[in-house]
Amino acid sequence: MTARFCEKSRELFSILKKGGEGQKPRPPVLLAPMAGITDSVFRRMCIREGCDFTFTEMVSASGLHFNNKKTRDLISIDPAETPCGIQLFGHDPALMADTVKRLFETLVSPDEISSVDINMGCPAPKITSNCDGSSLMRDPLLAGRIVEAAVKASPVPISVKFRKGWDDASVNAVEFARVMEQSGAAFLSVHGRTRMQMYSGAADRELIAEVVAAVSVPVVGNGDIFSADSAVDMLEKTGCAGLMIARGAQGNPFVFREIAARLDGKTPFVPTESERLGAALAHITEYCRDHGGGSFVDMRKHIAWYTKGMYGSTELRRQVNSCRDENELVSLVRAFMDAREVL
Ligand SMILES: Cc1cc2nc3c(=O)[nH]c(=O)nc-3n(C[C@H](O)[C@H](O)[C@H](O)COP(=O)(O)O)c2cc1C
Repeated sequence: MTARFCEKSRELFSILKKGGEGQKPRPPVLLAPMAGITDSVFRRMCIREGCDFTFTEMVSASGLHFNNKKTRDLISIDPAETPCGIQLFGHDPALMADTVKRLFETLVSPDEISSVDINMGCPAPKITSNCDGSSLMRDPLLAGRIVEAAVKASPVPISVKFRKGWDDASVNAVEFARVMEQSGAAFLSVHGRTRMQMYSGAADRELIAEVVAAVSVPVVGNGDIFSADSAVDMLEKTGCAGLMIARGAQGNPFVFREIAARLDGKTPFVPTESERLGAALAHITEYCRDHGGGSFVDMRKHIAWYTKGMYGSTELRRQVNSCRDENELVSLVRAFMDAREVL
């Protein structure tokens, strides 16, 4: 690791941890924001497995502004899932500033939250059609005004998450990153795909390296990190100060432990099937306790991820998709686990 690389990692750690306590020599590994996935329960699980920083899923700045209850619930942060950043999406600088100001006046304390991230990467049509998410990459000046306004209003650092560009004909991550830095962003997370690619093809690590070289603020590399090997590849190819993982953590919060071990020069931790199923059961229990009654249905996709590649998992998924309550779901996973232990 080069000196500049280590210095950037330390700087990022100090932003994430506030005040720099607990600085580690290795790059931090962050859980990416994921709508419908990175709720408080999942964030806690990832922190327990060695994740250095979590984000809420994207939260509508205008929903918070108009005090929508469901939106407010998305930003309830438990100390066990910190350090944590709140991610907002929106395209109006004044509304963003007002929302950030009121967020800290009435809903959260700056001691609970390490950063506010602004989503400029979401590719979903319902978001981009409203000029939010990655559609802001087509208007860097407006994006810069949003960040400037948020920085002025916020007692905590503002970060920005964006993509390679809108499409192949308008790749502008490097210029965009410079605008974000000039506007006051404390760190940047870059997913190396265009909006039009959505999740197809491979994340462009050369492009992330160009962004790293173009700005002085720490850059977090994101895209296709599923294991310790791909984490090391991202670091080596880009020189990024931190790593961000989304799909690689689905059904595998252990990925943080695996990567941290490798970066600390230890043997990477690889969970057994029994540990993965144990995590699935704990996830169901905590999720249903936090979200109540019918929430077990949200766990179906998680069970599919936890059991991916396991013998008999196709049949389990079929049963899980038609189960009627939390108890039945737990029984199905337990029976699957028991059957595997006697194999
Ligand atoms: C189900 C899902 C939900 C996502 N929701 C968000 C979100 O709320 N905010 C955001 O910035 N990115 C979101 N993303 C994008 C991820 O944060 C990440 O940039 C992308 O998946 C690439 O990283 P990966 O290759 O590690 O999955 C989402 C991705 C997935 C798969």
